[in-house]
Amino acid sequence: MTSYITDKAYVNGKWLSTGKTFEVYNPFTGEVIGSSADCDGKVAVEAIQAATEAFKTWKELTAKDRAGILKKWAALIVEEKRALGELLTLENGKPLAQSIGEVMFAANFVEWYAEEGKRTYGITIPSPHPSKRMMTIKQPIGVAAMITPWNFPSAMITRKACAALVAGCTVVLKPSEETPYSALALANLAEKAGIPPGVFNVVTTSRENVAEVGKIMCTHPSVAAVSFTGSTATGKILLQHAASTVKKMSLELGGLAPLIVFNSADISNAVKGAMASKFRYSGQTCVCANRILVQSGIHDEFVAAIQKAMEKELVMGHGMQPEATIGPLINEAAVQKVENQVADAVKLGGKVVVGGSRSKIGKNMFEPTLITGVTTSMKCCFEETFGPIAPIIKFETEEEAIAIANDTTSGLSGYVFSGDVSQCWRVSEKIEAGIVSINEGLFSAPETPFGGYKQSGLGREGSIYGMDEFMEVKYICWGI
Ligand code: SIN
Repeated sequence: MTSYITDKAYVNGKWLSTGKTFEVYNPFTGEVIGSSADCDGKVAVEAIQAATEAFKTWKELTAKDRAGILKKWAALIVEEKRALGELLTLENGKPLAQSIGEVMFAANFVEWYAEEGKRTYGITIPSPHPSKRMMTIKQPIGVAAMITPWNFPSAMITRKACAALVAGCTVVLKPSEETPYSALALANLAEKAGIPPGVFNVVTTSRENVAEVGKIMCTHPSVAAVSFTGSTATGKILLQHAASTVKKMSLELGGLAPLIVFNSADISNAVKGAMASKFRYSGQTCVCANRILVQSGIHDEFVAAIQKAMEKELVMGHGMQPEATIGPLINEAAVQKVENQVADAVKLGGKVVVGGSRSKIGKNMFEPTLITGVTTSMKCCFEETFGPIAPIIKFETEEEAIAIANDTTSGLSGYVFSGDVSQCWRVSEKIEAGIVSINEGLFSAPETPFGGYKQSGLGREGSIYGMDEFMEVKYICWGI
């Protein structure tokens, strides 16, 4: 695992020292894990130039040839899943079982897109003119710049990069400064799999250089598409940058997912779903249940059941401790945000039933927290939490639940728990979000589209739609 810890970036098939480094920390211990190459704008431009050159030949390979290379990459990731999982736990704190799960999730994107790349079909169009024939083909858009987050430092890379790579695009990736090693480990294995120089580049940057590098990625004339996962605030800045050269932009931004439990729900299944959605990676996913709405008829029973489940199943600890299910938040700012949301909820009348405080067992640890009596005026209902707080809002009617669920500028995902099929259908149509999960807390898969309505983003990742972000449709008209 330590062999993947490197202070070099990966540009044009070479491991590059930049003469300047930044430190990477273990969020549970606060210890330095190692240092990472600090790339500035000049290195970013070098990587874009390499990707531009490599695009000329990569796009000419057949989809089958590109798929062959990607399949080798997927196999190497699977072979290394334990080492990559440990690395991931070290830099982002996720419990090891979840880290290995993420590595497999990452490998699944590589494998799935390797296959899907062979199916980028165009269409023939019935012509309205006797002397013309009409058809479309799909072509790779060019160099794709990608900026990926720390919460899924492997899977968010392959979800984006593999859709682009199989399409015939080349990639310049800037991983989060919190988690550069998982990205570099993927580059290491990409090189071993035979991905040619310049096709997949990893530019690591310190926080100081992020703004400069991000701007170059979104304004450089040779970049055709940008894909970003992160906060809505940063997404808006990148979108403005990209406007200057009219780049294709895909954005996976913040969420504020409602999880609605109706009176007819199977309570034990609803608790299982809420636990999985809320506490996966300590609540640090864009699709975590941010607001848990429970109908009055089952409110007390649900609260008692989720309290019991939290007390039994959630064990805080270092991600390498086998029993740990809740690891650290990524940094002190994240802990402060959660602490502030709890204090605000209490000030406005919420009742802390479980947890509620920082924990001293490690750095950046916050207790899994259950709050009842939550109202929509509390911060935990209108600010994305990204932490282990489960706020319970009691509601009376379906209309009220839908109104609360949609009263936000976010629209990434939502969850419905109900035993009434008509209600499930009705509510899932009315929720303004890109993803609705019915009687189920976990929904992500390479085969399915991931993306949001409203200010949660633009475009879709994963699935047959994910490749559209990296392909142009060309209409060809034949005169006969
Ligand atoms: C996230 O982007 O935070 C969630 C990733 C997933 O569940 O697919």
